[in-house]
Amino acid sequence: MIDLRSDTVTKPTPGMLAAMSAAAVGDDVFGEDPTINELERRTAAMFGHEAGLFVPSGTMSNQIAVRIHCRPQDEILLETTSHIYLWEAGGAAALSGVTCRTIDGQFGLLNESDFAGKIRPNDMHAVRTRLVSLENTHNRGGGTVYSPEAINGISKWARSNGLATHLDGARIWNAMVVTGVPAKIWGQMFDTVSVCFSKGLGTPVGSALLGPKDLIAHARRIRKLFGGAMRQAGFLAGACLYALDHNIDRLAEDHANAKLVAEAVGEVPGLTLTPAKVETNLVWFEVGGKLGTAKDVANRLKADGVLVAALGEKVIRAVTHLDVTREQCVKAAAAIRKLAG
Ligand SMILES: Cc1ncc(COP(=O)(O)O)c(C=O)c1O
Repeated sequence: MIDLRSDTVTKPTPGMLAAMSAAAVGDDVFGEDPTINELERRTAAMFGHEAGLFVPSGTMSNQIAVRIHCRPQDEILLETTSHIYLWEAGGAAALSGVTCRTIDGQFGLLNESDFAGKIRPNDMHAVRTRLVSLENTHNRGGGTVYSPEAINGISKWARSNGLATHLDGARIWNAMVVTGVPAKIWGQMFDTVSVCFSKGLGTPVGSALLGPKDLIAHARRIRKLFGGAMRQAGFLAGACLYALDHNIDRLAEDHANAKLVAEAVGEVPGLTLTPAKVETNLVWFEVGGKLGTAKDVANRLKADGVLVAALGEKVIRAVTHLDVTREQCVKAAAAIRKLAG
């Protein structure tokens, strides 16, 4: 099976496994895991932040960020299809007593002008607007990439209005590779940044929340509260350090493979790429015409040895990653072309 459902399906390579088993470990709740300490230091420095916190998942990282920036009755401004709003099980409301004010973007991306008039009045009847959260690359938007200029505009606007800023950078690595813009530039435009090692970078587990020392100290308490404090998790952090050394630049291969898959999608009548131009490793498309539903198409592809994710009645996502080769993507493209016949 050629598994294009998600970039989270990857299994650790022999090199990564070796790094994991060689990792020095200790009890991280005591602050004594040297590999986690190194990963937190290194990732924070990379993004120009003072401190980092290793957490089990991107969801936990984002939800800790919401909690440390906001208090109950506060509101987040974020794009309508952002992961925090759409796919984190209502965490902002359930864990932090916070509402989300959604803003429709262009394939997940917003501009400074989209925020005009979105700050609530200082009135006891209203929630307090507190946080702006952006996602780069944007998953549901189609793996779309922000320009640093667009983010800078939004970030400056937020800061001048006393709002905190958070980046859901689960796939910021892909944005770095496509644009050539280094981590530091992206990182410094936000108060906190969440990064994932378990997507394009191919580790089995792990995310990090980055930010100023005082906020990350607060985040450490919230991680404990949310049940995410781990013990000898340096074995996992070892995989993340290995991924930072070996798996960032190669994301360009995933992007080239995604273009190959997207080309095939674009040739099939009844399939529409959303957006038409694929920039990173996520290929989203809609099913129409005589092809039936997303599930029908996914089942036909499965019969040809290709797994894709049907993520709506008419919506499919195909994702390239570390565990699919160019040759497999050529085969997947052929299976997609067959849908036309
Ligand atoms: C943009 C984005 N943010 C956050 C997450 C959450 O990551 P996790 O699955 O590790 O909780 C995902 C997961 O796919 C994602 O795509």
